[in-house]
Amino acid sequence: MNPVLQVTELNKSFGAVVAAANINVTIHEQEVVAVIGSNGAGKTTFVNMVTGYLKPTSGRIQFRGNDITGRAPREVSRAGICRSFQVAQLFPDLTVMENMMLAFATLQVGAASFFRPLHSEAARVRAMEVLGDFGIAVHAHSQVSALAQGVRKLLDIAMALVSRPPLLLLDEPTSGVAIEEKFGLMDTVMAGVQRSGSTVMFIEHDMDIVSRYASRVIAFYDGRIIADAATEFALADPQVRQFVIGESHAAAGASHA
Ligand SMILES: Nc1ncnc2c1ncn2[C@@H]1O[C@H](COP(=O)(O)OP(=O)(O)O)[C@@H](O)[C@H]1O
Ligand SMILES: [Mg+2]
Repeated sequence: MNPVLQVTELNKSFGAVVAAANINVTIHEQEVVAVIGSNGAGKTTFVNMVTGYLKPTSGRIQFRGNDITGRAPREVSRAGICRSFQVAQLFPDLTVMENMMLAFATLQVGAASFFRPLHSEAARVRAMEVLGDFGIAVHAHSQVSALAQGVRKLLDIAMALVSRPPLLLLDEPTSGVAIEEKFGLMDTVMAGVQRSGSTVMFIEHDMDIVSRYASRVIAFYDGRIIADAATEFALADPQVRQFVIGESHAAAGASHA
């Protein structure tokens, strides 16, 4: 299988804080990778570097054999890596459809893109298709500020998936979603990912979600990768149990208190 993403000796420091320490990761086409780790472990920093939102202190990021290290977010998404955010990044005063059309605009303006430009009518059709796949087409003409949290999360992911990106990165797709809605949301998202043929990596705290959807798990602790293995092996790893799963449970307990 072809590597879609290759990250080599990636480092990131914020002053004295080492948020990424010698990160090496290769992702292959069609993998479903979960990134786990307690709060502050460096998960978002890693995704932010891959997607151009943060410049690494050192190291290299290659996407389909091209060096994309240090490229701006818009260039990275045009190259074919799209993402969603821990907190959905939407325009609240615009409608769902207007937000979807802005996702196209980002990809179509300027330099060459993996994405073949669409006329506005074709873009509208594709947007409605994704909204339909995600079960939120009924909200197409609603203002985003009027939407429930679960619908906002789906819209943010739909915007990342609209171009059928080769690589999709999701930062905590189920965060802020009621526990009884998490599996439904992930079923919907993963079906959309399969239809678009995207490789996916998602950050997740809920180990039930991780074991259900991921084929591989990368565990972060204190800016380092402490495990990278098939899901069942990674979740059984003693360090992962101690530093990731134990701390997640403690944090979950604290947040309920
Ligand atoms: N922009 C920033 N400026 C300074 N420190 C940061 C910044 N972003 C993240 N950090 C620090 O880097 C570490 C990793 O953070 P982050 O990647 O957000 O963790 P996670 O997503 O795993 O919760 C934390 O110690 C955090 O405080
Ligand atoms: Mg994070």
